[in-house]
Amino acid sequence: MTPNPQALSDNLAIEVRDLKFSYPDGRIALAGVSFKIYPAESVVLMGANGAGKSTLLLCLVGILKGNGTIRLQGVEVNPDNVFSIRSQTGFVFQNPEHQLFSPSVLEDVIFGPLNLGLSREEALKRADKTLGELNMTDFKPRAPHHLSQGEKKKVALATALVMGPGILLLDEPTAGLDPRSSTQLIDVLFRLKDEGKTMLVATHDMHLAEEIADRIIVLGENKTVVRDGLPREILSDTAFLARNNLIHEHSHFHELRRHGHPHSHLHHEDDHTHPHL
Ligand SMILES: Nc1ncnc2c1ncn2[C@@H]1O[C@H](COP(=O)(O)OP(=O)(O)O)[C@@H](O)[C@H]1O
Ligand SMILES: [Mg+2]
Repeated sequence: MTPNPQALSDNLAIEVRDLKFSYPDGRIALAGVSFKIYPAESVVLMGANGAGKSTLLLCLVGILKGNGTIRLQGVEVNPDNVFSIRSQTGFVFQNPEHQLFSPSVLEDVIFGPLNLGLSREEALKRADKTLGELNMTDFKPRAPHHLSQGEKKKVALATALVMGPGILLLDEPTAGLDPRSSTQLIDVLFRLKDEGKTMLVATHDMHLAEEIADRIIVLGENKTVVRDGLPREILSDTAFLARNNLIHEHSHFHELRRHGHPHSHLHHEDDHTHPHL
């Protein structure tokens, strides 16, 4: 979709204005970050390690409290409404172990709905639907801590999706995944994007960015937004990417784009590989 810059701020999915955050040890993690995300946009947040991506996502749902203004679906995030904000905003942590704690996948997936006050029957119905959509019905009885990293990420995603959030915040969803798990996860994200979910995905995975981003926002080493624009412009600017420590000085990510066809991902065959990665 093409964002309309004139749109009223009430119509924004996410609005961040001059957000600053420092950790208790004094380390500055965000030094005045501002951006807007429109409903149904799929935005990739890029930045080298330590640029502040995780900190930003944690601020968005009120887990960390910075200075500045954050609005989700027009509502300002403050200590009084973090509970309702979190129930409407799906969050997948960088480390899925931080959000899986039940003896079985099914228990983890129904935890949120039960906490919302749904009956066990209704919660189970929702969990069935969500796990089915993720092709994970067989995982219900399994112990989350025995799953592979990729499977844990998908369960974590299921715990977020089962709440039916309008906004999804995903922190490094493909980090640590083997190529096949990564491709499968990207397929799921691609479908969610198609369904009109608003997504903000933190990653330094160029391939993921190329596949799902309508727009890319880059956090620089100065902990502010150094670029906010179209994927094809940003991902082909190798000097910029190298300067921001997103690619090696001598790599040529743009070669990837020779076979780039970001919107045909669902039509790829199983044997489709990305030999440049
Ligand atoms: N708990 C913490 N205490 C102190 N500094 C932290 C903590 N977590 C992250 N940082 C620092 O804050 C900055 C931003 O980190 P982070 O948000 O994790 O970046 P990213 O997710 O982009 O890798 C880094 O300099 C990091 O070292
Ligand atoms: Mg991070």
